[in-house]
Amino acid sequence: MVNRIATEIAGLQLANPTMLAAGILGYTGLSLQSVIEAGAAAVVTKTMGQEPRAGYLNPTVVQTDCGLLNAMGLPNPGIGHFKEEMKQLKTIHAPIILSIYGSSPEEFVKVAETAAELGADAIELNVSCPHVEKAGAEIGCDPLLLTDIVKAVKKHVNVPVIAKLTPNIANIGEIAEAAEEAGADAITAINTVKAMAIDTETGRPILANKFGGLSGPAIKPIAVRCVYDVYRAVNVPVIGCGGISNWQDAIEFMLAGASAVQIGTAIAYKGVEVFGSVAQGIDDYLKRKGFKNVKDIVGLAHKF
Ligand SMILES: Cc1cc2nc3c(=O)[nH]c(=O)nc-3n(C[C@H](O)[C@H](O)[C@H](O)COP(=O)(O)O)c2cc1C
Repeated sequence: MVNRIATEIAGLQLANPTMLAAGILGYTGLSLQSVIEAGAAAVVTKTMGQEPRAGYLNPTVVQTDCGLLNAMGLPNPGIGHFKEEMKQLKTIHAPIILSIYGSSPEEFVKVAETAAELGADAIELNVSCPHVEKAGAEIGCDPLLLTDIVKAVKKHVNVPVIAKLTPNIANIGEIAEAAEEAGADAITAINTVKAMAIDTETGRPILANKFGGLSGPAIKPIAVRCVYDVYRAVNVPVIGCGGISNWQDAIEFMLAGASAVQIGTAIAYKGVEVFGSVAQGIDDYLKRKGFKNVKDIVGLAHKF
């Protein structure tokens, strides 16, 4: 039987176009395995750095009307810790993408080398976290620094390198171009949108860090626009992310130019079953519309 939804991104074979977005289910082998078993074709781990990092004090998450606002501060046990989790994932036949961060090209290289040694099938560079100083969106807003980081990492690892971009910038296409020219094999768009919430009784910003990143349905139209812009700017594949919670959302991202999609916040209210239902919905759509493969719909909205 022909598999209409099987696809490929930068050499990674995907049984369908859905992936777990970074940070949503952490980095334990068991939780990543449960996502694959539920139908995701690949997983992205929580972002990890060279050293363990505690993250911010609570409150770190605020539920809003149509999404989540978070400022976790990239808590993680350090990339070395992931060795044990990787052992657990040995039996999984789906790409494991390790998300990493650093505060300089040298630090990114060290973490990327460890990620590759641990068996990462690809590395996603988190250069887009809106609430971590000197290691997040500040890099993703600076094309020269981003270029240095992507070039340095590409020089030291042999696995595909994906740059995850921030929407908190005037021209995301320019940043995507810089990442592509530096050697990025794919672009993920987008990370969360910088936002905040204030308690009306106390007058205080709710998040301990004051600012955070908004995710979920509220940011979907922003993310679709970003994917559309990035697709126009580069030739490498685009991975769409931001507010996807059903198959219609996934199709919309693919029409805008995404070759695959990442799902995060929707898991909080739909469970990991969302991956299976999105994949099934994409398949049904392709069949109903007479498309032979999911690749045939990528970027179709650009015809108009
Ligand atoms: C609680 C939480 C933690 C996150 N942690 C990370 C992270 O560690 N690294 C990263 O690149 N993105 C992280 N993100 C951003 C998501 O990967 C994704 O880009 C964003 O939430 C938009 O997708 P969504 O609307 O499907 O959640 C996090 C998002 C949330 C809600």
